[in-house]
Amino acid sequence: MASSFGAAQVLVASNRGPVSYAVADDGSLRSKRGGGGLVSGLSAIGPESGALWVCSALSDGDREAVRRGVGEDGVRMLDVPADVHADAYNGIANSVLWFVHHMLYQTPLEPAFDAEFRRRWASYETYNRAFAEALAEEAAEGAAVLVQDYHLTLVPGMLRELRPDLRIGHFSHTPWAPPEYFAMLPDDIARQVLRGMLGADRLGFLTRRWADAFTACCERFAGGLGDTRVGVHGLGADADFLRARSHEADVDERMAALKEEIGEGRRTIVRVDRTELSKNIVRGLLAYRQLLDDRPEWRERVVHVAFAYPSRQDLAVYRDYTAEVRRLAEEINEQYGTPGWRPVVLHVEDDFARSLAAYRLADVALVNPVRDGMNLVAKEVPVVSDAGCALVLSREAGAHEELGEDAITVNPYDVVQTAEALHEALSMRPEDRTERSKRLAAAATALPPARWFLDQLEALRGGTGS
Ligand code: G6P
Repeated sequence: MASSFGAAQVLVASNRGPVSYAVADDGSLRSKRGGGGLVSGLSAIGPESGALWVCSALSDGDREAVRRGVGEDGVRMLDVPADVHADAYNGIANSVLWFVHHMLYQTPLEPAFDAEFRRRWASYETYNRAFAEALAEEAAEGAAVLVQDYHLTLVPGMLRELRPDLRIGHFSHTPWAPPEYFAMLPDDIARQVLRGMLGADRLGFLTRRWADAFTACCERFAGGLGDTRVGVHGLGADADFLRARSHEADVDERMAALKEEIGEGRRTIVRVDRTELSKNIVRGLLAYRQLLDDRPEWRERVVHVAFAYPSRQDLAVYRDYTAEVRRLAEEINEQYGTPGWRPVVLHVEDDFARSLAAYRLADVALVNPVRDGMNLVAKEVPVVSDAGCALVLSREAGAHEELGEDAITVNPYDVVQTAEALHEALSMRPEDRTERSKRLAAAATALPPARWFLDQLEALRGGTGS
């Protein structure tokens, strides 16, 4: 029996891995570091840790890399058939589970769990099984496996059946829906998701609020938590990495270019997001327009620097949302702009160096999601900003549990209140702003990614933690 075990003592499983590949014009493969909160959290474990990261081939380049046997040490990419992956990732994970946990449905029209949904669900099961089988194959006896996120909720239960010897953890990077909203899922699917996760020894969440919502769902639909333990690990910003990276030459170059776009002596309201429905970029722009309406003294004196990077563009609703962000930014510029002042500077091409440049220049950071597991931008800007920044923060972001005291809190749906909060942030006395920003940075870095990961591993292995 023992001979059929694999070699890895620590395994991580996630849909998106730490690298992606693209086929260059000359046919060679180019690798690139992936993005997202999950990647920044898990990149703390380098290959020297001996961990194996099992992830999905997401692009044609990734599939080509698997075919050619190209890869990095410590990473195994699974080449699940593209149509199965599309149904599982776009059709279930991002269109159903993400929508449920972020409470994004417009309920008079959606969801309708029809036969097409059932077909996609079968792909989601196949996709989860592919992960469970790969993990079962790679794991050494008694190894620790840390499964990530809503793409892989069924893996813990499936893996437990294949390999009862393993220590299995699962971590949710999203919020968790309250039972009244989770109840929207068909009963059998709701139970399957919860029981899949309860196959783990230990489940992790970003805040107490999401952990409690999960527990409440289990009480209502699955007869309680059983033997599974639940813990909270509030992933923080990686201060050392961010401070060093934000002073490299390419960031300085981007800063110079951005300053040109902003113009001399103006304040900046910065936001950086994936163009994600839950990030509430449109209401952020509406609030900025309201500010220019209500407080004409800020006209010509402030610029909204908004970076909205492409995300999940296979889904029509994301493409429409992206178009609306662009349209509204243009409308505001047409309505208020003057020959020497562009009120909104919108960039939509992903550029990490430029994001850091904007963080450094930020007078105000606007983070107003309708619902968010944590939101690392809220944590990163105070760490990086040169002069300290004021933070306007949605009470629905997980980060609010840790940063609420020194942020200006908003209800993300209340555009008028958000406009007023922007005014308050822009008007904050410099000493007050510096002090608050320092406290925000300290709270934001309390649990850096490496410790966040190791804490979970320790709790899983040692059987500690609530
Ligand atoms: C969130 C999820 C991650 C995901 C990231 C980027 O942070 O919790 O699992 O990787 O968004 O989304 P994407 O669909 O591009 O992987």
